[in-house]
Amino acid sequence: MSNEQTDLFAHKSKSWDMNSKRVQNAKSIAELIVKNIKLNKEMEIMDLGAGTGLLSFFIAPFVRRIVAVDNSPSMLMEFENKCDEFACETEAILKNISEDDFESRRFDGIISSMTIHHVEDIAALFHKLYGLLHKGGFIAIADLDEEDGSFHSDNTGVYHHGFKREELQKFAEASGFTDIQFDTASTIAKPHRDFTVFLMTARKP
Ligand SMILES: C[S@@+](CC[C@H](N)C(=O)[O-])C[C@H]1O[C@@H](n2cnc3c(N)ncnc32)[C@H](O)[C@@H]1O
Repeated sequence: MSNEQTDLFAHKSKSWDMNSKRVQNAKSIAELIVKNIKLNKEMEIMDLGAGTGLLSFFIAPFVRRIVAVDNSPSMLMEFENKCDEFACETEAILKNISEDDFESRRFDGIISSMTIHHVEDIAALFHKLYGLLHKGGFIAIADLDEEDGSFHSDNTGVYHHGFKREELQKFAEASGFTDIQFDTASTIAKPHRDFTVFLMTARKP
């Protein structure tokens, strides 16, 4: 990541894990990933937009290694501060998924929670993720179903107000993914309304 880029999460990183709804959301997503994907202790998994590692923490007991990728130095610092508590090997990489190169690295799976609404070009994202997987690898991506823009109190850095599942399906198919499936992972209750979170899983054939 270039130094000029602003860390949009700098003011949130320290207190990120103190929000119990956020922790519960990550736990629900992890439980559904474990139910839908056959994980094993040989696997090296990328957590895209890992942040402080809420999703990684719950997936760690089922895999060999988690590589946390995030473009926020402050969120990754929180990840690194607690990674001794994770039940697998960990590595943190400061990278922007849309801009940076991952050289020849390939993963058995890519998981992600509440990150892709921050990525502008979703077609390019699916193409990139496809290239980062070994043959037979999987993606398991959770984010908001289409919403009215009221989920975030400040929409800075938010490129999508959630997603239509059928549109994501088209992007994934266009990149070559198969076995595309959507499930509802959780519901986040806010005082003014509830927001549903989907889990999309797919495979690189
Ligand atoms: C809403 S937070 C979610 C963090 C974590 N996955 C969770 O569920 O608690 C989104 C994360 O994605 C990261 N992010 C946003 N755009 C990114 C990009 N282009 N490349 C890498 N990480 C990105 C942010 O820095 C932030 O840590």
